[in-house]
Amino acid sequence: MATAVSFSPDAPAMRADPYETFAELRENDPLHRSHLGYWVVSRYDDVRGVLMSREDFGQGDFAENVRLFYGPGFDVMGQPAYKWLSEVFLMQDPPHHTRVRGLVTGALTARIVRNMEPRIREITEMLIDRFASRGAADIIKEFAYELPVRVMCDMLGVDPEDSRLPAVIHAISESFIVFEARALTADELKTANEQVRVLQEFFEDLFAQRMKEPRKDLATALVQSGGKEDSLSHAELVTVAIGLFGAGFETTAHMIGNGLLSLSKYPDQWDLLVGDPQSFATNVVDETLRYESSLVATYRTALRDTELHGQRIERGSKVLCLIGAGNRDPRVFDNPDAYDIRRDARKHLSFGGGIHFCVGAELARLEGRMAFERLAVRLPGLSVQTAEPAWREGFLFRGMSTLCARW
Ligand code: HEM
Repeated sequence: MATAVSFSPDAPAMRADPYETFAELRENDPLHRSHLGYWVVSRYDDVRGVLMSREDFGQGDFAENVRLFYGPGFDVMGQPAYKWLSEVFLMQDPPHHTRVRGLVTGALTARIVRNMEPRIREITEMLIDRFASRGAADIIKEFAYELPVRVMCDMLGVDPEDSRLPAVIHAISESFIVFEARALTADELKTANEQVRVLQEFFEDLFAQRMKEPRKDLATALVQSGGKEDSLSHAELVTVAIGLFGAGFETTAHMIGNGLLSLSKYPDQWDLLVGDPQSFATNVVDETLRYESSLVATYRTALRDTELHGQRIERGSKVLCLIGAGNRDPRVFDNPDAYDIRRDARKHLSFGGGIHFCVGAELARLEGRMAFERLAVRLPGLSVQTAEPAWREGFLFRGMSTLCARW
């Protein structure tokens, strides 16, 4: 008989350490019924199974999914932030998903990403040059965010010195709260609605410039993809650009911060990296993603009546997939609560699976490898403050807002 496990994603204790609750769910209540009205899966095979499934699980009816949290009378599409999210291709099923995803994967092929290596190395060195002689820095603000933001700017053709950029970055974190699987407070929703507008204006302006003066960047490629048969509307293209820009730096910044925190919690692992940065930097990326995933969970909707753990799951039910719990499933990873960069962690679930598998996985891996390798080479004495990390609010995305490093 399963024990009742209490699971409140927004409890402050979950922010400090969700892994105890994840282990309880995984071991004692692998198909948990949340008081928030959805199912929760936590074992590796279940999380992967739901994400990989094409017939039983998908994104389903967006507005219905949101009304699950707010009640049946809620005007979902009257909220600019939800209207925007409904158009993000991650939230869609085929055939629309396939059509938009194709547009983006073309810009992130393995060859294109490989060719970005010298430029990413150059940005990494330039950022380290800025603070290396200082002996201390807020490594989240000065490095973990700066690196992927600049890479995304390069890719999309945004000027990294544009005076509006800080407001755009702020708008991403304020509006991405609509991804959370809960009803937002009135204030949170108001802010998200306002901030989505900031993002739309910024990218509409960029597209207008590229229409006038095309360049060799993704913004130009997106603009030029319009106007053809079956092409995306201008508003849809703006949504793609915002989604890509946000997805491209928020999770990557968290990965760099979470990796540095883990390496300082386990100084023997930092020593291993410093001893052979080129061999270990890739392992640091995957072990960090496994041990302290930037995206703790994602959700799916049952597309038809189905079954999990012998329990009937009705069509339209939501299932929260705990990536962070699956990544520490002892059925798959030995001694899963230890951070060990010698293990092969590549099976982790942190890039998802199935048709929504992260389109930026190779780029994120490259940025992470470069970040950990260059920091270990240039600042071998680096350590970060490990007591009471400043975890950001929210459940789905796991990362810190600030992190003091010394060397
Ligand atoms: C460490 C960094 C990253 C992590 C942990 C991460 C994680 C994920 C996960 C778990 C998904 C699937 C979500 C789901 O199935 O519900 C996803 C999808 C996606 N990611 Fe990433 N991501 C990272 C970096 C990036 C980068 C650098 C980009 C863009 C350049 C990017 C763009 C996307 C996009 C566009 C999707 C939607 C794919 C689809 O629906 O087909 N991500 N990411």
